[in-house]
Amino acid sequence: MIESITILSGHGKKGDNEAVERIDFKMGDVVSIVGPTGSGKTTLINDIELFADGTTPTGRSVLINGLLPLPEYRDNPACNPIALITQHTTFLSDLPVGDFLRAHARIRSNVAVDGDKLVQQTLDFANQLTGEPIIPTSQMTELSGGQTRALLIADATIICNTPIVLLDEVENAGIHRTRALELLRMHKKIFIFVTHDPRIALLSDYRIIMKQGCITDVLYANEEERECSVKVRRLDDLLTKMRDKLRFGERLTSKELEGVL
Ligand SMILES: Nc1ncnc2c1ncn2[C@@H]1O[C@H](COP(=O)(O)OP(=O)(O)OP(=O)(O)O)[C@@H](O)[C@H]1O
Ligand SMILES: [Mg+2]
Repeated sequence: MIESITILSGHGKKGDNEAVERIDFKMGDVVSIVGPTGSGKTTLINDIELFADGTTPTGRSVLINGLLPLPEYRDNPACNPIALITQHTTFLSDLPVGDFLRAHARIRSNVAVDGDKLVQQTLDFANQLTGEPIIPTSQMTELSGGQTRALLIADATIICNTPIVLLDEVENAGIHRTRALELLRMHKKIFIFVTHDPRIALLSDYRIIMKQGCITDVLYANEEERECSVKVRRLDDLLTKMRDKLRFGERLTSKELEGVL
């Protein structure tokens, strides 16, 4: 049983030591990684996914339950406790969505599991995050960017069902972010998001700050931020509504801003 994953510090792009020596992620934690473009966010989650052992360019190491990761985590895909959803996803498979998920469910789960039920649960999860539903008979390659991202998040959470899920920038895909976090919190896992989105950063339990390849701080939301987060949510809802109106060919009016700005 995986209960924690630990990052032991390495060094930044210029070789300077990281300010935070050790971070322990506990089961159930929802964590954001924030920092400017190029500051090393993707590199950090790649270190986690690789179970870095001090030999990656950052010099970081990763422990599972406080110990060196078991060799089979790396060597046997069925034993890997980590699912990574990368920043740029393109599909090579042109299978229909339903077939793809069914095949994946067969590989990942033991025989006792009802494959069709898992596939349905995965599609239901994904379709709560998308604007237009994913149809099981459409080809994987026909899905939009947002639909693909939603399907991968659902697949990682339900079919792979790994205890650790890493997500590189969920927001760019235009999926329903608050809903995604609510759904994910119903599954007890360690979720680590790279994000540029204040709403996601404020919805997570704590956030890791990156600068020039270094982890420079770990911040927990304070009282003032929790208050701000209500307003951020309202502003973000307003922007989402305006974006949707534009998408559906409607005109914006200044009435929309009343009461919010
Ligand atoms: N600790 C480090 N030591 C050496 N090189 C690093 C380190 N961290 C990041 N880099 C390098 O810096 C570059 C940018 O890093 P990365 O892609 O992780 O940034 P990012 O924060 O994910 O940016 P974006 O927001 O654009 O996705 C990469 O080439 C990466 O290899
Ligand atoms: Mg990146």
